[in-house]
Amino acid sequence: MPEFRLFPISASSFSDEVDLVTLALTIFSGVICLIVFGLVVIFSFLYRRGSKSPRSVPTATNVGYEISWIILLTLIGLGFFTWAGVIYVRMHQPPPNSADIFVVAKQWMWKFQHANGTRELNELHVPAGTSIRLVMSSQDVIHSFFVPEFRLKQDVLPGRYTYAWFEASKTGVYSLFCAEYCGNEHSRMLGRIIVMSPEGFRSWQGSMAGLPGAQTTANMADRGRELFTRLGCVSCHGTGSAVQAPDLAGIYGKRVALSNGTQVTADEGYLRESILNPRAKIVMGYAPIMPSYQGQISDEDLLALISYIKSLKEGSR
Ligand code: CUA
Repeated sequence: MPEFRLFPISASSFSDEVDLVTLALTIFSGVICLIVFGLVVIFSFLYRRGSKSPRSVPTATNVGYEISWIILLTLIGLGFFTWAGVIYVRMHQPPPNSADIFVVAKQWMWKFQHANGTRELNELHVPAGTSIRLVMSSQDVIHSFFVPEFRLKQDVLPGRYTYAWFEASKTGVYSLFCAEYCGNEHSRMLGRIIVMSPEGFRSWQGSMAGLPGAQTTANMADRGRELFTRLGCVSCHGTGSAVQAPDLAGIYGKRVALSNGTQVTADEGYLRESILNPRAKIVMGYAPIMPSYQGQISDEDLLALISYIKSLKEGSR
């Protein structure tokens, strides 16, 4: 017999705050509801047909009273908005030192890849107390990454990256659901997040690397470097190439000036777009000569290539 819980287990750094604001809002709405429905019942009884209660309509309005309850309720409403808004913003801003994990969703499974190259299917091992940033995309339709114990839900879309982050606060095994109807097997698109102690996680990592038959963990950036050469990127973006192409060293996270006078932040989404659809955003001072790699590179190779570009430090070449 499953135990009844008002809320799922709270297992991430922000789950307690999410619960508190939800509970406060529910209690507040409940109290207002009780007052309104209580008065409905009382008045129905008091002013039932034939009762002797006075029925004269008040003629004067108390303006001060009207204004004060409007102001009070507005302040309470804005208070809830600010409280929830602060949490919401924090839930969408991963700490700068987060570890990146790449998520590719497809009908009907979750594929994970750690920065060191370890791959997992429908299971994700993470250490407790470390902030994890998820860079997610879908190979087909819209899915949604939902871990109730972390109070975390984010849609995963084809053709672009979405992001989410969490810091697991206690070890355990938590359920991962797909929360967007995505076809016949949607309800079975399940996974598990296995939160381990930092030591446990390190030994798990070691055991994965030593697994016989495991792709001897080429880390993602190394695999990206190999693709960078194989796909010919290096012939224009490499050192001393004859073709003038933007220097990629240190570009990740920077603001890039575009030929149309606007600026864009070089995040994963921009790098992806520039590989698949290079003419969408031309860097100021360069000609639109790069060919598109649409259809020539898989989602996972794209992530490796982006990992490589992220690993290029300024002045490293
Ligand atoms: Cu994937 Cu529902």
